[in-house]
Formats: sequence, C-alpha cells, structure tokens
Amino acid sequence: ENVFWVGVVDWALRFFHGYTTPDGATYNSYLIKLNDKTVLVDTVKATFWDEFKERIERQVSVTKIDYLVVLHAEPDHSGSVPFIVQANPNVKVVCSTPCRNILKRYYNLEFNFCDCPAEFTFKHTALQHWPESSIMIYDKILFSSDLFGQHIASTERFTEEFDLGHTLMRAEDYFANILHPFKHLVSKTMADLEKYEFDYVLPAHGLSYRTKNFNEVFQAYKNLCKEQSSKTVLIMYETMYGSTQKAAQLLAQGLIANGMKPVLMNAQHTTHSDFALQLLKCDKFCVGSPTLNNQMMPKVEAALMYLGALKLINKKKCIVFGAAGWAPCLNSLKALLTKYQCEIVGEKSWLYNLNEEEMKAMTDLGAKML
Ligand SMILES: Cc1cc2nc3c(=O)[nH]c(=O)nc-3n(C[C@H](O)[C@H](O)[C@H](O)COP(=O)(O)O)c2cc1C
Repeated sequence: ENVFWVGVVDWALRFFHGYTTPDGATYNSYLIKLNDKTVLVDTVKATFWDEFKERIERQVSVTKIDYLVVLHAEPDHSGSVPFIVQANPNVKVVCSTPCRNILKRYYNLEFNFCDCPAEFTFKHTALQHWPESSIMIYDKILFSSDLFGQHIASTERFTEEFDLGHTLMRAEDYFANILHPFKHLVSKTMADLEKYEFDYVLPAHGLSYRTKNFNEVFQAYKNLCKEQSSKTVLIMYETMYGSTQKAAQLLAQGLIANGMKPVLMNAQHTTHSDFALQLLKCDKFCVGSPTLNNQMMPKVEAALMYLGALKLINKKKCIVFGAAGWAPCLNSLKALLTKYQCEIVGEKSWLYNLNEEEMKAMTDLGAKML
C-alpha cells in the first residue's frame, strides 16, 4: 500500500541501442512512502520528465522526496535525475560507488550522496548490466533493475493481468539482448536471491511479478544461465538471386533427416534482436552468404558481429555455405566465425547456381551437425 508505480510507458519505442522493441517499453520508477521518509527508486528518460513529475506529484511534491535511489545510471533510468536534484538539491542520493562517478560524468551536478537507509538492503550487482548496476530489497519486495525486465508497453502493471507467455518470451528476449554476456554473474545473483521470499518483484522495464509468476521467470532465467543443448538449429542466410536460399532449404532437409529442427531466417528481413532470441537456446547454427564485392553480405556480417559481442554464437558448432561468381567469400566468413571461436564442422560453396552434385552435398552437410 505504500509503494507506488510512478514510471512512464513509452508506447512508440521501436529501436533501442541496436535492440528492436516491437512492443514498446516502460521506464519503471517507484515511490515508497514510509512514516518518516519518502524514497524514489529510479527515474525515467529525460524526455518524459513532465509526465513523470505529474505522476510523482499525485503522491508527494518532488521537493519532499528524501531519498533518490539510482539502481542503474543508463539514461533511460537516470535521465530525470538532474530534474529531481535541481528541484530538490538536498535529496539524498543512494547508489553504488561506480554509479556516483557515472552520474557526475553524465550530469555534472553536485550530488548529496549517502548510504542506503536501514530499512532497505542495497546490493551492487556489477555488470548486470552496467558496472554500477544494483538491486534493492525492501520488506518482501525486490527492485530488480534490469534483471527479469522485458520491453513491453502496457496499461497493465502486473504479469497476472497480462499474457504470461508473451511476457516470458520478452523476458527471454531481454536476457538475450542485454544480459547474456554476463550470465555467469546473473547466475551468482540468482543463487543469492534464492535465500529470500518475495511477494513482489519490480523490474525497471515492463511488467512486475507477484510470487507465482516470479517463480516462472526465475526458472526460465536459471535454464538460460546453463549451457544450452537443443535440436533446434538456426540457419541464417542472405541471397541476391536465390541459390544461397535454395542451399539453406536443402541443408534444412539434411538437418531434419538427422533429427534436428532447423529454423530458417533471412538476414535481409530479420532484426539482430530476433536472431539473438533464436540463438539463445541453440548450441548449433549455420550461416549462408553469397559473395558481394569480395565480402559476405553486409547484413550477415553485421548480425554476426552483434551476436558475437553478445556471446550468442561463441564456441558453438556451425556450418558455412554460399554462392559466388568467381571468388567465394567463405574465407572472410570463416575468419569472422573463428574470431568468436566457433567450431566450423562443414562448409560448401559453388558458382552461380547449384548443380545436382552440389545440391546433394548441401543436404549431406546436415549430418555434420551430429
Ligand atoms: C553486385 C554484385 C557483386 C558481386 N560481387 C562478387 C564478387 O566480388 N565475387 C564473386 O565471386 N561474386 C560476386 N558476385 C556474384 C554473386 O556472388 C553470384 O551471383 C551468386 O551466385 C549470388 O548468389 P545468390 O543466388 O544466392 O544471390 C556479385 C554479384 C553481384 C550482383
């Protein structure tokens, strides 16, 4: 009864530092009214300040906030910190030590930094997802910052009122695109969180969880933190005149014949984020590209670089293939995959179009994934 959502819903957001957000997003902020103090947890993007201020002031004047907790300094959460501090210069700012430096760099203001009040348990969860990232526990409420978040704009605030399957899919999407490189650290935080019982889990993005649905997302995260093993094999490819696509389809038949479940995605029409979500649970993948000006197609290269940085292709088994006119690009493709320590188990290139023998070779490649 004393914790109020004062965040904003960004219905229009579709692209966020390389991450596509087809469902929009929210920037969640919470006002906690205690007998002797008022605490604001996180803020919102600066462009939403007017709406944010209006929502806070339905509860309390901004000038009456005693503590401002900053769990994450990324500007989608800290962007309105300067407005709060300028309106209320005495507000006590609670954040991790690295966060103090980042806030000073971003906003060049004097902050009244202080320790967390005794009613709260503040935990610095470094690199989940930035160096300063933190979470906080109050009573049986977890303010989980980026952990368990999802990019969904909605009128509903709790998963119980929304489509749970869709929420969990977006939570996995978020894990793939934001947290995956740090999953060993997430795993440690999860082990720590298992010591607690939570009635409410309030992430910084998207819908919040009551206990039952939190258990669902917690279990999903646990599974994602493990090494993946799956029959699903992503075949990502691009084509100009169709032969590399035909090869992708033949390879898919070969994978099916060997008990695997291929998913074909054309890089021309697939976002990096969708590749990331698909690769999250795959331990094998295939990449096909025709040669364009002595290189692989640029969208294939860009996708591989995005996925490699998120550690979603690294050390995984893969097959490479593609058409050329006079100089196949497989070497540049293989060099990029080697950088990410992929295990290349098969390859095939051909000139212009596949003949019978090459078509059979593409299907036979499927067995190499076993
Ligand atoms: C604009 C353009 C540039 C190309 N550059 C090269 C090249 O540098 N080296 C090469 O071997 N083939 C090159 N090709 C030929 C294609 O790789 C070849 O047509 C291939 O079969 C296309 O495969 P696809 O049917 O999957 O689109 C080029 C083709 C086009 C249209």
